[in-house]
Amino acid sequence: MSNYSIKNLEEYFQLYRKSVREPENFWEEIAEEHFLWRKRWDRVLRWDFSKPEVAWFEGAKLNITENCLDRHLAIRGNKTAILFEPNDPKEAAQHITYTDLYKRVCRFANVLQSKGVKKGDRVCIYLPMIPELAISVLACARIGAIHSVVFAGFSSQALAARINDCDCRMVITSDGSYRGAKTLDLKGIVDQSLENCKGVSTVIVVKRTGEKVEMTKGRDHWLEPLLEEASDECIPEIMDAEDPLFILYTSGSTGKPKGMVHSSGGYMVFTAYTFKNIFRYREEDIYWCTADIGWITGHSYIVYGPLANGATTVMFEGVPTYPDHGRFWEVVAKHKVTQFYTAPTAIRALAKESLDYVDKYDLSSVKILGTVGEPINEEAWNWYNNNIGKNRSPIVDTWWQTETGGIMISPIPFVTPTTPTYATLPFIGVQPALMDENGNEIDGNQVEGRLCIKFPWPSMARTIWGDHKRYYDTYFSAFKNKYFTGDGAMRNAVGYYRITGRVDDVIIVSGHNLGTAPIEDAINEHPAVSESAIVGFPHEVKGNALYGFVILKEVGETRDRENLKKEINQQIAEHIGPIAKLDKIQFVPGLPKTRSGKIMRRILRKIASKDTSNLGDISTLLNPEVVEEIIRNAQ
Ligand code: WTA
Repeated sequence: MSNYSIKNLEEYFQLYRKSVREPENFWEEIAEEHFLWRKRWDRVLRWDFSKPEVAWFEGAKLNITENCLDRHLAIRGNKTAILFEPNDPKEAAQHITYTDLYKRVCRFANVLQSKGVKKGDRVCIYLPMIPELAISVLACARIGAIHSVVFAGFSSQALAARINDCDCRMVITSDGSYRGAKTLDLKGIVDQSLENCKGVSTVIVVKRTGEKVEMTKGRDHWLEPLLEEASDECIPEIMDAEDPLFILYTSGSTGKPKGMVHSSGGYMVFTAYTFKNIFRYREEDIYWCTADIGWITGHSYIVYGPLANGATTVMFEGVPTYPDHGRFWEVVAKHKVTQFYTAPTAIRALAKESLDYVDKYDLSSVKILGTVGEPINEEAWNWYNNNIGKNRSPIVDTWWQTETGGIMISPIPFVTPTTPTYATLPFIGVQPALMDENGNEIDGNQVEGRLCIKFPWPSMARTIWGDHKRYYDTYFSAFKNKYFTGDGAMRNAVGYYRITGRVDDVIIVSGHNLGTAPIEDAINEHPAVSESAIVGFPHEVKGNALYGFVILKEVGETRDRENLKKEINQQIAEHIGPIAKLDKIQFVPGLPKTRSGKIMRRILRKIASKDTSNLGDISTLLNPEVVEEIIRNAQ
C-alpha cells in the first residue's frame, strides 16, 4: 500500500513530482496495486486535447461493482457499507452490511435484466436519498447499463429533457419522498414527464411514503414483488475501462443541460484514490457526505469512492433544518461520524442560528471536515472550524466539478497546512495552469487568471452525451491544448490556489477586474449580514457598477438601513479597495438558488439591469417565489 496513503508534505511533493514526470507509471502503480481487473490494460494513457480524446487503461477489463462489493465480502462482509439515516429522526437508522448490499445490488440487477435492460442501455434514476438509490446505481453498473441519475427535486420538464436527451428506456422512481416536514409526489412528476418521453417502456417504483399512486398497466411495476422473484447472485458484465459508467447532467443554468459522460476504469481509480487520501479514511471510520446522489459529489464521494475503499458511508434522507437546525450535529453525534463533508451554503445557513443547536451534541468523534461546491467565505470557514471542528479537525476545501469526476485541488488533512478560503494545492496527478486573457500561461506565484488543467487525469469526463463538438467547444476551444474549467483562480506566494468564482461572474468596473467572491466575503463578514450576492449592471462612466443583494441576520433587521449600507461599503473598501464599493444595495429575504444551492446570478443580473421581461426558466429554482419579491423592491 506504499503510495496509497500520503503521510507528510514531503511525501506529497515527491508523489506529486512523480505524477507529473511519469504520469503513466504513477497511475499504473496505483491501478495495479489497489483494484481488481479482469484483464490488464494494453496502454495506460492515450490523449489528444485538440479533439479531445482521452483514454485511460485502454484494453483493461473490469466491473466497478466487483471493486465496490465482491472483493470486500471475505474481509469485511459484516461491516456496514451504507448507514442509512432517515428523514424522520424517530425512524430507525439502517446498517446495510457489505454482504447485504452485495445481495441487494445483485437482486436489483437481476430485476433490471428481467425487464430487458442490457449493457449500454441508459436507465434514468429519479429517487430520493434512500438505500435503493445507491443500490440501483450499482445494479446498473453491475450489468453495464449506463445510469443517469436526475436529482429528485427537478421538475417534470427538467426530468423529461434529461430522459429524452440520452434516450432512456427505463425510469426508476419511488411513490414519494420525504423532505423535512414535506412529502413530494415523485411518481406523479414522473407520470407527467413521461407524457413527453415516448421511449420509456418500463417504470420501476420503490415504495417509500406509501401514498397512493397511479400505476400504468404494462409500464409501471412495484419493485418489491420483482425483487422477491430475483436471485441474489448476478454475474457482473465485464466492461472495457473506457466503457461509459454513467451520464450526469450539469445544473443547466443556461441552455440545454450537458450530459457529462464518465468512464468505468479511470473514474474508479481516481475517485477511490482521492477519497482515501483527502478524507484519510481508516477502517473504523464513519464517513458522511451530506450531498445528494443526484449530484456528482454523491456519485463520487457517497457511492463509488467510499465503497471502493470498503468504507462505511452515511446516506442521509433529510434536510439540515428538520426537525430543527441541530439535525446535522445530532446525526454526527448519534453515529459518531469521523469525516463530515458538506457545502458552504449549508454552513452559512446553520451559522445564522443559535450555537445551542451545536453545543447540545458531542462532536468529539469528528476528525476531518470538508466543503465543496462553491468558494467558502472566511467567516463560514471560521465558524465551521471553531464550532464543528473545535480547532482541531482540518478542513479540506475541495475544488472540483461534475466534469472532473473527482477532487482536483484540496488540502490533504494533517499534511497540507490549511488557510481559510484556499483550496490549497493540486491533488496528485492534477496539473493546473492559470491563463491570461491572451491565452498565455501565467508562471510564478501571486498571480491570478483563468483556471485550466493542462494534462489529463483519469476521472475526467470523456464527452457530452450525443454532442462531442459541444464538449470541445465548451472546454477545449478557449485555450489551446488545455481543459478550461470556467473558473478564475489566484495562486498565492506559497503556491496555494484560491478559486475566485466562475469567470463569467467577474465584473469589470472602470477597467478593473473584480471577482464577486471576495466582495461577497467582505460583506458577509459584517456582523449583521448572513449572505450576499454581487452582480454587475451597466454604468455610464464605469462601464459596469456593482449591485449587492444582501440577506440580513436577525440582529441586522432592526438596524437603520442607510447606516448599514454605509458600513457594508466601508467594509468592502477596507477589504478590497474603494473601487469595489457597491453602487446599489438591496436587502432581500433570500437569493434565487438552484437546487444544488448555487446562486442564480443570471437572474440577479437581469434584475440589476432592469431587464426582467425575460428571466428564462425559473421553475427549477429552489425558491422561485423570492424572485418576485426582489423585483418588487429593486432599485
Ligand atoms: C464551484 C461540484 C470554490 C466551481 C463538485 C466549479 C468551488 C463548480 C469549489 C462545479 C470550491 C466547486 N471552491 N468553488 N471548493 N468546489 N466549486 O459541477 O465554480 O456542481 O466550477 O461540481 O463549483 O460545480 P459542480
